[in-house]
Amino acid sequence: MAYASALPDTRETCVVSHLDPGPDGPYPVPMSVDCLNSLPFSQNKPWLAPLAGYSDLPFRLLCREFGAAVAVTEMVSAKGLVYGGKSTDELLATCPQDQPLVVQLFGSDPEFLARGVDICRERGFSWFDLNAGCPVKKVTKTGSGAALLVDPERLVDAVSAVCERAGPGRAGVKTRLGWDRNERVMPGLGPRLEQAGAAWITLHPRFGKQGFSGEASWGHLKELADVVSVPVIASGDLFTAEDGVRCVRETGVATVMFARGALADPRIFTRYTLLLSGETLMEGAPNPHDLSEVIRRHVALMREHGNEHRALLATRTIIPRYVRSMPGVRALRNRLTYCKSWRDLDKELDAFLFSGLESNGNFPIVNTTDLPAEDI
Ligand SMILES: Cc1cc2nc3c(=O)[nH]c(=O)nc-3n(C[C@H](O)[C@H](O)[C@H](O)COP(=O)(O)O)c2cc1C
Repeated sequence: MAYASALPDTRETCVVSHLDPGPDGPYPVPMSVDCLNSLPFSQNKPWLAPLAGYSDLPFRLLCREFGAAVAVTEMVSAKGLVYGGKSTDELLATCPQDQPLVVQLFGSDPEFLARGVDICRERGFSWFDLNAGCPVKKVTKTGSGAALLVDPERLVDAVSAVCERAGPGRAGVKTRLGWDRNERVMPGLGPRLEQAGAAWITLHPRFGKQGFSGEASWGHLKELADVVSVPVIASGDLFTAEDGVRCVRETGVATVMFARGALADPRIFTRYTLLLSGETLMEGAPNPHDLSEVIRRHVALMREHGNEHRALLATRTIIPRYVRSMPGVRALRNRLTYCKSWRDLDKELDAFLFSGLESNGNFPIVNTTDLPAEDI
């Protein structure tokens, strides 16, 4: 099912205000971007999920190169925006190729959320999402994220504040089934979120209390899609391209949002769209040459869009992530900590990728189910 988006499907070139660099340096926001007047909501346009600590600019660009149609920032604190702060600004780093981009805000106070949207709009951002699903204590103890589900009236007010300030069709909400299994609020609350202005609803069909345990119950995605007229985006246990295709076919949702599946292998977007269009995918273990290209491209984007020294440090966690279930990862992780230059890193990567392959020249299959839910 392809959804017409909330606004007409026309493109316009709009000028994003050039920003006052401020005391903490320039916000890397483009001076001019080709803004989409609408977001794509169709099954062959998969989204990249918000991933705190991971969906930064380089990773978003990487996923876009592999076919992510829309990307969402890491969650950004509305209060952090209002009070200002370098780390909040860093989360909003973007560039002209990073479009369309949805900024995800978290907070529990509708007033702060509204002001957060205003600040982002002044900086040239057009699309917003309210985080009403994060189960992490640091977030929920302030009444934000999945804790909003404990008080549905507050959630509706928060959605309303974000959507009103964002403008018609410009904001959505990402949520779960409820906080606790005994108090399920979704899909029942869906129509109220729509009335409050949500132009799309992303549902991760687990309860807040569950964290990432158990299974995502995709059946509730279909139930939600049946009671709202805005697009429903599926999130939850989409570890492979095959999961994505199965999910849209079983539930009829507008599209899917890849999270841990994209962290394990950003090529999931290409594989998903190919599979959806009826292509047969190559089965089997990942090819070391392809994997090496993905890793090197990710590293190159980090160097291009970040601070060189921090990029070098970040590779110590990024590289092991792509090869996490292969033999020798622990030793690799250790050796990477001694890399002081890009040349050292290159050597380590080559030594790891191209030695110790299986007799067929491939790596063993990566297990994507044990990815970092615990890290958020
Ligand atoms: C490391 C990590 C960080 C996440 N950060 C966010 C976030 O900032 N905002 C949000 O709404 N969800 C966040 N999520 C949840 C994902 O967007 C997604 O809903 C969830 O992982 C379920 O999808 P999956 O099972 O296919 O991974 C995060 C998940 C992980 C694993």
